[in-house]
Amino acid sequence: MDLFSEINSAPAQKRMEELAEELDRLNYEYYMNDRSLVTDEEFDAMMRELQDLERQYPELASPLSPTKRVGGEVNKSFRQVEHRFPMLSLGNTYSIEEIEEFESRTRKLLDGTSFTYTCELKYDGVAIGLTYRHGRLVQAVTRGNGTVGDDITLNAKTIPTIPLRLRGNYPDDFEARGEVVYPFEPFIAMNAQREANGDEPFANPRNAASGSLKLLNTAECAKRKLMFCMYFMMGPDESKLPATHFERLEWAKQMGFKVQPYIQECKDIDQIKSFIDHWDRARWNLPFGIDGIVIKVNQTTLWDKLGLTAKSPRWAIAYKFKAERVSTPLESISYQVGRTGKVTPVANLQPVWLGGTTVRRATLVNADFIENLGIHIGDHLFIEKGGEIIPKVVGVDKEKRLPGAMPVSYIQRCPECGATLVRINGEAGHYCPNVDGCRPQILGRLEHFVSRKAMNIESLGPERLEMLYNVGLVRDIADIYDLRREQLIGLGAEQSASIQDKSADNLIAAIEASKQVSFERVLFALGIRYVGEVGAKKVARFFGEMDAIMSAREEDFSQVEDVGEVTAKAIYEWFADMRHRAIVERLRAAGLQMKGQWTNNSGPLDGLTFVVSGVFEHYSREEIKADIEKHGGKVSGSISSRTSYLLAGDKMGPEKRKKAEKLGITIITEKEYLEMCV
Ligand code: IVH
Repeated sequence: MDLFSEINSAPAQKRMEELAEELDRLNYEYYMNDRSLVTDEEFDAMMRELQDLERQYPELASPLSPTKRVGGEVNKSFRQVEHRFPMLSLGNTYSIEEIEEFESRTRKLLDGTSFTYTCELKYDGVAIGLTYRHGRLVQAVTRGNGTVGDDITLNAKTIPTIPLRLRGNYPDDFEARGEVVYPFEPFIAMNAQREANGDEPFANPRNAASGSLKLLNTAECAKRKLMFCMYFMMGPDESKLPATHFERLEWAKQMGFKVQPYIQECKDIDQIKSFIDHWDRARWNLPFGIDGIVIKVNQTTLWDKLGLTAKSPRWAIAYKFKAERVSTPLESISYQVGRTGKVTPVANLQPVWLGGTTVRRATLVNADFIENLGIHIGDHLFIEKGGEIIPKVVGVDKEKRLPGAMPVSYIQRCPECGATLVRINGEAGHYCPNVDGCRPQILGRLEHFVSRKAMNIESLGPERLEMLYNVGLVRDIADIYDLRREQLIGLGAEQSASIQDKSADNLIAAIEASKQVSFERVLFALGIRYVGEVGAKKVARFFGEMDAIMSAREEDFSQVEDVGEVTAKAIYEWFADMRHRAIVERLRAAGLQMKGQWTNNSGPLDGLTFVVSGVFEHYSREEIKADIEKHGGKVSGSISSRTSYLLAGDKMGPEKRKKAEKLGITIITEKEYLEMCV
C-alpha cells in the first residue's frame, strides 16, 4: 500500500469496523433472540457496503468479517485435521430399562457423592468441534472418525448461529461442540427446489446437513440455512470452565452460542423418565429433528472418576426414540414416469397422522420392493418415520389382510404412453423405452435441459414448456432454439397466462443468452442417464470437445475419473443413437458451446491465490508456481487476507505458518495441491 492510500484508508477502516460490529449485533439479535431490528433491505445494504469496502481495501478485510456469512470463497479440498481432544460418541439404547441401569450404576460408582443429571435433546445432525482462541473462531472440524475430521471452517463461518467473535467473557482457549442441523422448513424447501432442478433430493435433513458442510462453494452453503446447536464445552484447562455442564451451557449462551432452551437438571430416574416421555411426544413440534435424549452427569468434576469405556464416557448415555410406526390401508398404487423413463410405484394411502404430519403417499421403490414385502391389494401397510421425515413403508400388517386378497401385480405397460416396460442392466427398476414418444419423459428432459444448473433458461418454467409442447412448438430440446418471437405472442390465452410482447422478448433473450453456457453444462443438459453435474464436467474436461466425445469408443469413457462401466455404456449408447446425434448437430448449428474454454490460464484454480513456501517432493518451487498459473491460479510472495492457500513444503519457515494461522488461511500439502488440480 502506498502512503496515499494508507492515509485514505483510515476512515474506511473505521467504517468497516463499525459495519462489522453492527452486522454482528443484528445477526445475533435475529438468530439468537428472534428480533429484527432493521428491515432485510437495510441489512443487505450494510452488508453490500462492507463487501464493497473489503473489495477496495482487501488488506483491511478480517477473516472473521460478517461478509463471510454470505460466502464467496471456494473450498478446493477439506484438509484432514487431528482433533485436539478426541470426539467421543455416546453409548446409546432404545430401552428405558437400560437407562434405569445406567442411573443405578452411576449412583453406585459415585458412592454417596451428591450429584445431578442434565437431560437435553439429542440433535439429529452432524457433530462438529469449533476451536476458539481469544474469543475468535479459528477452526471448525467435523467429527470424522473421532480422531481425525475434515476442516470445514469456511463453510462453518456461513452458519449464522456459529459466533465468529464471542461476546462478554470467555475462556481464552476452548472448544465448543455441537450439532449442525438442517431445520425442517428450509430442508423441505431446498429439496423441492432440487427436484425442480432435476437434482436428486436428500433422503433426510441429516444427510443434507452433512452434504452442505462439504459444499465447495461457500456461497452455496450460506444459502442452506443450517443451524448450529451447541451442547458441549471443553478446554485444555478444565479449571477455567464452570464445574457443571449446565453452567457451561449457560455461559456459552452469554458468549453468543445458540443453546436450545430444552435442557433440564434432573435429580432422579423419575425426572429423567418424564423428560424422555415428554419429548417422545413433543419432538414433532420442534422446528428441527431430534432422535433421542442425552443424559449427562451434571458435575464435570465427577467425569474423571466415572471414566471411559472403549469408545464412550461412562458419565453420559443417549436414549434413542423408536421410529414412529402406524399401519394404514393401501388404497391404490400410482406409477410415476421420470425423465429417464424410470417408473416409480407410489402407494396411495388412507391418510394417517404420523410424527407431526398427515401421510397420504409413500414410495414403493420398485417391483422387487413390492415383491419382497409381499404386498397384496388392500393390505394395511406399516409406515415409519424416523429422523427421516420422509415416511417409509416398512412392512405389511398381515393380520389385517382380507381373505382372498390378491398379490399386487406390477404393471407391464407404461401408464403414460402404453409402451411395454423393460428392465435394463439388471436393475431392479422398470423403464419405459418410448424415449421420444412418452410425454413425462419428453417434458422431464425439457425441464432438465433448461434447469438452473444446465442451460439456465429461467423464464421457461414447467408450465410454459408444457404449453409449448402441447401446441407442438417444442418436442425436443433443439426445438427451443427454433422458437421465434411471433410464435410465442398470445400463446396460453385460454389458460389466462398469455405471453405478452415483453415476456416474449425476455424469453427469446434468455434462450439467446443460454448459447454462452459452458460446454460442460451443455453436456450435462443433454440428460444422459447417470451423467450428473460433476460427471459431465469430468467428461467434458477429459475430451475437450463434442466431436471427441461423439467419436469416442465405449472404453474411452471408462478412462475418465469416476466414470464406471455402466455410465460409460450409457454415454456411448446415447451418442450412438442417430436421433441424438441429429439433436446435437441442431444445437451446434444454433450456436451452443461445443468446446471447452479452459486454456489461457483458466482452470480449476481460477480466482485462487497461493503462497508457496518450503521444499517439495515432486516439483521445484519454480515448477510448482508455474503449475499454479497454468491451472488458472495466482502466486503471491507474502501472506495476506487475500491469500487462499499456503502451500507448505518441507522446512517451511515458522513465521509463515504463524501468520497463516492468525489470518485463518488454510495450509495445504503438496499432495492436497495436486488433488486440487485434477
Ligand atoms: S454429548 C462425550 N449432547 O450424538 C459426549 N451429543 O454418540 C459428547 N449429539 O456424535 C456428546 N445431541 O454428535 C451430546 N445434546 C447432545 C447431543 C449429542 C446430539 C450427538 C453427537 C454424538 C452423538 C452421540
